[in-house]
Amino acid sequence: MSDGPRPLSPGIESAPAHVAIIMDGNGRWAQMRGLPRQEGHRRGLEALRRTVRNAGDLGIRVLTLYSFSTENWRRPKAEVSFLLGLLRRFVENDLAELHEAGVRVRIIGSRADLAPDLRLLIERAESMTAGNQGLTLVVAFNYGSRDELARAARALAADAAAGRLDPQAIDEDMLAARLDTVGLPEPDLVIRTSGETRISNFLLWQAAYAEFVFTPVLWPDFDRKALEEAVAEFHRRERRFGGVTEPTACNVGVA
Ligand code: IPE
Ligand code: IPE
Ligand code: MG
Repeated sequence: MSDGPRPLSPGIESAPAHVAIIMDGNGRWAQMRGLPRQEGHRRGLEALRRTVRNAGDLGIRVLTLYSFSTENWRRPKAEVSFLLGLLRRFVENDLAELHEAGVRVRIIGSRADLAPDLRLLIERAESMTAGNQGLTLVVAFNYGSRDELARAARALAADAAAGRLDPQAIDEDMLAARLDTVGLPEPDLVIRTSGETRISNFLLWQAAYAEFVFTPVLWPDFDRKALEEAVAEFHRRERRFGGVTEPTACNVGVA
């Protein structure tokens, strides 16, 4: 992460460092065309590949993509296995190309209940690309924020019970250090496609001060223009982080 962002398309200011996307609307995209939901997921994978390229071009440093939630196991068995198969094929087929492009791959989410071969595949993708300096691609897979926070709480409790940690000393940094996202910057911009305006258990802790952009575009249709529009919207926002925008106006006379 040492080299700075690349030049942007005309009219686009420097990109937010970390963009996270809730990739939603595959099913509706397919339904609208009288196609099976699986076709929507297949086209969604193409949108994912396209977005990885576009994010790199725009100078985004970290791109987090929500690909499968801890709640998505509630879907019909056939759809779940199709989605698992897609992820498997994505890692198998695209890893070499991503590595070549300097992409660093991170997977967040619970690995405990994944098939051993899938876990191995994930570990290989991470270790192979660990030294890369380009875009960091974070794939949220079997991810749920509540599960992540519960696992972090368990880790803190285990350290305290073993006498390695004073419970009174636990602070925000110690909790953040036990989340799957340890070492990553917090998202600046969270995009959700398909017109839904909810967070669906995604990065609850990390997105505390993120800007949210909701677009009606269905995920399989998400293209460069849609990404650039979301980034442009991000630049129209005023981030205050609980402070004030014009400190001189309000702080006059304050000791
Ligand atoms: C997003 O599309 C993909 C996943 C959640 C895995 P959906 O499958 O949720 O599509 P809709 O919301 O039914 O249209
Ligand atoms: C959120 O989408 C999860 C992913 C994009 C992986 P869902 O389609 O599962 O969310 P809900 O059920 O509409 O909240
Ligand atoms: Mg959905």
